Amino acid sequence: MIDHTPLIRAGVMGWPVGHSLSPKVHGFWLNQYGIGGEYLRLAVSPKDFVGTLKNLHADGFAGANITVPHKEIALASVDEVHPLAQRIGAVNTVVVRVDGSLYGFNTDGFGFLENLKAGCAAFDASNGAAVILGAGGAARAVVVALLDAGAPEVRLLNRTRERAERLASDLSGLGSGTITVGDWQRRADYLEGAALLANTTTLGMQGQHVLDLDLSALPISALVNDIVYAPLETDLLARARARGNAVVDGLGMLLHQARPGFEAWFGRLPDVSDALRAHILKVD
Ligand code: ATR
Repeated sequence: MIDHTPLIRAGVMGWPVGHSLSPKVHGFWLNQYGIGGEYLRLAVSPKDFVGTLKNLHADGFAGANITVPHKEIALASVDEVHPLAQRIGAVNTVVVRVDGSLYGFNTDGFGFLENLKAGCAAFDASNGAAVILGAGGAARAVVVALLDAGAPEVRLLNRTRERAERLASDLSGLGSGTITVGDWQRRADYLEGAALLANTTTLGMQGQHVLDLDLSALPISALVNDIVYAPLETDLLARARARGNAVVDGLGMLLHQARPGFEAWFGRLPDVSDALRAHILKVD
């Protein structure tokens, strides 16, 4: 018998989008769970973005992930925005509702926290101060997630201090935690007494400079995370591990942030397994 059930369709919209690992992640899950769906790579230029977004319904899409450089314009262009995405100031996941309207949310903070919990059972944001390096889009999602999860203090350090101050003033009053902006030149001093250190800058990424940070003031009990995942073990993680800190790499954030979108479009909250990690790390 021929199965005429239409394929559920989703995809990732970005410019460029060739580097995106999302098609590989969603493709793995579609296959693992035997779901009749497809997940496409959609190269959409800034001038075509809003039109393509508004046409998702007509083009048969259940929704889409949104990546660089469209996350802010997506926030302004959907019909309804989840409050968390509003606070982060960016939408990375869009769902087409039955009436054709577009609902936008942001799963980066979820991905960040789920990755830490999966990699370190003892992790709890309320354990103590978090030192966050960077003040870009990723840092914004991370800081919102940590404050929402009860972090008592976020110490924010960025090369361009004004950017960290803007982020802090945008997010102040969220939860009961405080955001302190520190001096990038003295970044090593802010590690004292911290429960978490996370790098959200591009330092340490393949082809970039390594992150120059003396870890001696960091308690051995602190968890260290890098959202850079190429290489998987950055110089920061290798040094933290060598001195006895628990470390969590950045690949898991990418994998966990994909889960809520998959659930919304394809009807099942997928798992992040070792097999998925191995599949993503395999060079094609
Ligand atoms: P994303 O949205 O992925 O976070 P981004 O907005 O480009 O990316 O942010 C990159 C982060 O890496 C910023 O915090 C940036 O610092 P600036 O705000 O000062 O640009 C940081 N970064 C990039 N290169 C850096 C370098 N050589 N030294 C220190 N910080 C760097």
